[in-house]
Amino acid sequence: MRIYDIIDKKRHGGVLSKQELEFFINGYMKNEIADYQASSLLMAICIMGMNDEETLNLTRAMISSGSVVDLSKFGSLSVDKHSTGGVGDKTTLIIAPIVASLGLKVAKMSGRGLGFTGGTIDKLESLGDFTTSLSQSQFISQVEKIGVCVVGQNEALAPADKKLYALRDVTATVESVPLIASSIMSKKLASGASTIVLDVKVGSGAFMKNATQGKELASAMIKIGKGYGKSVCALITNMNIPLGYAIGNSLEVYEAISVLSGRGEERLRQVAIALSARMVSLSLGLDIEEATKMVEVAISSGKALEKLREWVQAQGGNTRYIDSPELLVGNTYAYEYKALQNGYISKINAESVGISSMLLGAGRTKKDQEIDHFAGILLKNTLGDYVKKGDTIATLYAKDKSLFEGSVKMLDSAISYSSSKPTNEPLIFDTVS
Ligand code: URA
Repeated sequence: MRIYDIIDKKRHGGVLSKQELEFFINGYMKNEIADYQASSLLMAICIMGMNDEETLNLTRAMISSGSVVDLSKFGSLSVDKHSTGGVGDKTTLIIAPIVASLGLKVAKMSGRGLGFTGGTIDKLESLGDFTTSLSQSQFISQVEKIGVCVVGQNEALAPADKKLYALRDVTATVESVPLIASSIMSKKLASGASTIVLDVKVGSGAFMKNATQGKELASAMIKIGKGYGKSVCALITNMNIPLGYAIGNSLEVYEAISVLSGRGEERLRQVAIALSARMVSLSLGLDIEEATKMVEVAISSGKALEKLREWVQAQGGNTRYIDSPELLVGNTYAYEYKALQNGYISKINAESVGISSMLLGAGRTKKDQEIDHFAGILLKNTLGDYVKKGDTIATLYAKDKSLFEGSVKMLDSAISYSSSKPTNEPLIFDTVS
């Protein structure tokens, strides 16, 4: 077999066999296939596409490049959730304790934030000494004991994806549904859960800009998961505006605690409940109405919040933050951001708000850059609210006052006003199962 022939076949729209895709991944991992050949094939895939079987076989080959976490002892109770990434998306912090309090097992690997989107690991690390690097046996034993453990990405899982993603990132080959689907699912499947709920974000603050694209990606990922015998479903959710009021690590933990305390911003609460209910429904084989009731009771009874406290304690975090969440807000300089004119808030561009928060120190422009866990933005208003010029509509937090100027400029461009009330955008566009 020669990589030249495989590239040429795909270039002419041919269907690659399982053996050809394995040859590509194995050869690339052993450095027998050069970056220029791999990127040529990736570009051919971007242009010519791949069918479902090819996508599944590519995923299999990437999973086989590393190890797979064995969660078989938890049977159908092992659950995972994946969000394709957005601004203000703190749903993992809400969902994990909810479903763990209902007996599900969340053994989850999460990432750090990069660019304008945040990452769960950074958020958790704003809770004092919360540790996100545990050995495999500590990880499994915590899941066994309390039902939830979240750690950083394990480098041994799907290493081919890591190598290929770095190449795709610099060769304009990220945006391809089969490549994104196989990349995400190779990591999820290697993480071992038997039930996977996907939150495919669409809109200005997401990879996928509209619901049609989101649905296409969701279907591709579900087919891969089902090909592996997993229970999978996806919600297509709105990321035109940030999810919730808080953007920035400690601020997002604060907001997650509000939701678990029965308060919190309504859209965030609804997305978290919908995702949790899908996990409970798939894992326990219940209908969605019953699962939703269980999730609501987990919140109203205080059980989910108690599970969060247990989880934070188990991973060495400071539980004082759970009892007094206001300690997570205002540990830096604050800037009152004012409305620029009278009117209804008609747009809050998620990507620009994410960049504005990043400029305050909450996010990274480069991998491994230090972040300020207490920096970020707390919005006071949302879409459709009527505000007057000069009203404070957000508070910005940063440890260096000079960071406010650039952030404010970005926020000025993110928020639009209109004289008539804007129509409500749907929160959940679709469910794919
Ligand atoms: N996230 C991933 O993990 N992979 C992609 O290809 C795109 C987003």
